[in-house]
Amino acid sequence: MIADPHQDPTAFWEEFYLTKRTTSSGRATAALMRIAAGLTPGRALDLGASHGDDVIWLAQQGWQAYGCDISETAVARARARAADHGLEHHAKFERCDLSVAFPQGEFDLITALYLQSPVALARAAIIRQAAGRLRPGGHLLVLSHAAPPPWSLEATPSTIFPTMAGELAAVGVPAPGLKVIAAEIVTRPGRGPNGTEAMLEDNLVLVQRCLV
Ligand SMILES: C[S@@+](CC[C@H](N)C(=O)[O-])C[C@H]1O[C@@H](n2cnc3c(N)ncnc32)[C@H](O)[C@@H]1O
Repeated sequence: MIADPHQDPTAFWEEFYLTKRTTSSGRATAALMRIAAGLTPGRALDLGASHGDDVIWLAQQGWQAYGCDISETAVARARARAADHGLEHHAKFERCDLSVAFPQGEFDLITALYLQSPVALARAAIIRQAAGRLRPGGHLLVLSHAAPPPWSLEATPSTIFPTMAGELAAVGVPAPGLKVIAAEIVTRPGRGPNGTEAMLEDNLVLVQRCLV
């Protein structure tokens, strides 16, 4: 993704959804499916929800799920897809610039799945805020590309790839009341635009707010 880092984030992501990512994969994130399978459904929030695949999957599992994204186009498509599944009351979406405002309320699960951007994004502050919005017993799952895929080594600025230490610092651990459940590098198969296949590395951090 080649981008001018000074470009306005709303304009950048609108153009991305209008010209580059025009359809959804329709698949939820494997790491989320694995982790949420062990949790009791409650209120969930996905930060940077894109076309809503993860929020819709959570709603299908019984969660009251909310997604927010800076792109109005992505949000409109996510709403339409939730309605197609008959889930418009359980999978809700709103347009929101998380660098400016965080959705209201507290949650049993908050996810930041590849919430990474080549343009301005107050990512660490957003993740820190998310940790503060967990209900007692609630989980925060942060998943991030740890390195660019081999097919876009030159196109992607290395600054958007966080280290594990950086992820833990963003979450704000160690902190009283927050327990680290997992902090690990996980791999998954990926396929590039020319059909090239590679194993891709992600940082996975899962924390839980302690019961009081
Ligand atoms: C790399 S994509 C990841 C999307 C999705 N979570 C996934 O796993 O495929 C980053 C997403 O974050 C959104 N985003 C970027 N900056 C944002 C901001 N300031 N506030 C809210 N969403 C933002 C983008 O529109 C995009 O959908």
